[in-house]
Amino acid sequence: MKTSLVTGATGQDGSYLIEKLLSEGRRVCAMTRRSSTFNMARLSGLKEGVQNNGAELIYCQGDLTDQSSLEEILGKYEPDEVYNLAAQSDVHASFGVPEFTADVDALGTLRLLEGIRRLGLEKTTRFYQASTSELFGAVREKPQRETTPFAPRSPYAVAKLYAYWTTVNYREGYGIFACNGILFNHESPRRGKNFVTRKITYGAARIRVGLQDVLRLGNIDSRRDWGHAEDYVEGMFLMLQHETPDDYVLATGEQHSVREFLEIVFSRLDYELVWRGSGVEEKGIDRKSGKTLVEIDERFFRPNEVNYLCGDSSKARSVLKWTPKHSFASLVEDMVRHDLEVAAFEKKNGMVVEV
Ligand code: NAP
Ligand code: GDD
Repeated sequence: MKTSLVTGATGQDGSYLIEKLLSEGRRVCAMTRRSSTFNMARLSGLKEGVQNNGAELIYCQGDLTDQSSLEEILGKYEPDEVYNLAAQSDVHASFGVPEFTADVDALGTLRLLEGIRRLGLEKTTRFYQASTSELFGAVREKPQRETTPFAPRSPYAVAKLYAYWTTVNYREGYGIFACNGILFNHESPRRGKNFVTRKITYGAARIRVGLQDVLRLGNIDSRRDWGHAEDYVEGMFLMLQHETPDDYVLATGEQHSVREFLEIVFSRLDYELVWRGSGVEEKGIDRKSGKTLVEIDERFFRPNEVNYLCGDSSKARSVLKWTPKHSFASLVEDMVRHDLEVAAFEKKNGMVVEV
C-alpha cells in the first residue's frame, strides 16, 4: 500500500486531498500542528484507522517551522508521496507577519525537502509543492502559463517564490521527483472565511437570514480566476502519478472581478445590487429595499495589490489529462447553498459554525 503524507491537513485543500487519497486506497498520514483550539472541523467526517476500502488514515503532529518534527514523521512513515500544502496562506495577513510567513512558507518547504534528502528518501519519495498564481503578481503576460515570468507582490508570494525554486533545485540537484503545482485561486464551501469568495457567500447568507446588516470589503475591482478545490486536488494527485516530474498551472481560464462575484451571489439571494458613489465611499445598495448591503473598508486594502490573474492550464489538460468538472456557476451555487444552510443553522441555534 502506498503511503502519502499531507501537510496542511486541516486546511481547505488538505481535507479534500485526504478524501481523494483515501478513496485511492492509500495509507494517509495527515499532518496537523499543535493548536490551543479545535481546528479539525474540515476533517470531522474522517475517522483515524482502517477505512471500509482498506485505506488507512493516521494523524501525526508536526510543524513546518520545526525540522525535527518533520524528520521524525518522514523517518517513521517513509512516505511514497509528500503533498506540502501547509502554509500561512493569507496574502493580506502576510504583510503583517512577513517573517513568520517566510519561515513557514519558504523555509518550511526547504526543511521538508532537506528531510527527504538527509533521510536518503530522494529516490523513493515524490514531492508536491503548493505553488501559487500569486507568483505572477504584477502580471507580465495574459493569460499566465508555466513560462510566464514571476513578479511577486507580497511577503506571501516572495516566500512561495523561494519554495518554488527550492523545489526545482532539489529536483535538478538531487533527482527528487518534485513538482510545483502553480494553482490559481480555488474555492469551496470549506474555504476559510478570511478569503473573499467565502467572506461574500457567508456574509451575504447571514444578511439574508437577518444575522448581519452589511458586508465590508476592500478592493472589489481585482480580478481572479476562481476554480473549485475539488477539481484542483485531482490535479495535484495527477502530477505525482505522472512518469516524470514537472511544474504545472491549474486554472479555469475564466476570470471575474470581486464586484461581479458579489452581484452574482446577492442576486442568487434575491437582492439586486446597484452601485452608488466611488472609492471608499462606494456602496452596494439593494434596488428594492434601498438598504446598503456592501461597504468599502480601507482596512482590507493591501500595500501591494494583484489586480489581474487568469491562467492557461493547457499543459496540465494535455499532459496530465486534467479535466475539471465544476463550472464557475456550479462553484457559486455550491458555496451559496452551503452558506445558506450554515446561516439558517446559526440563526436557529444562536451560535457560529466554524467551517
Ligand atoms: P488553508 O486552508 O489556509 O490551509 C493551510 C494549512 O496549513 C492549514 O492546515 C494550517 O494549519 C497549515 N499550517 C499553517 N502553518 C503551518 C505550520 N507552521 N506547520 C504546519 N502546518 C501549518 O490553505 P488552502 O487554501 O487549503 O491552500 C493549501 C496550500 O495551497 C497553501 O500552501 C496555499 O498557500 C496554497 N495555495 C492555495 C490556493 C487557493 O486558492 N486555495 C492557490 C494556490 C496555492 P492550521 O489549521 O493549524 O492553521
Ligand atoms: N480576503 C479578502 N477580504 N480579499 C478581499 C477583500 C476582503 O475583504 N476585499 C477585496 N478583496 C480582494 C483582495 O484584495 C484580492 O484582490 C482578491 O479579493 C482575492 O483575495 P483573497 O480571497 O484573499 O485571495 P488571494 O488571491 O489574495 O489569495 C488566495 O489565492 C492565492 C492564489 O492566487 C490565497 O488562497 C493564496 O493562498 C493563494 O496562493
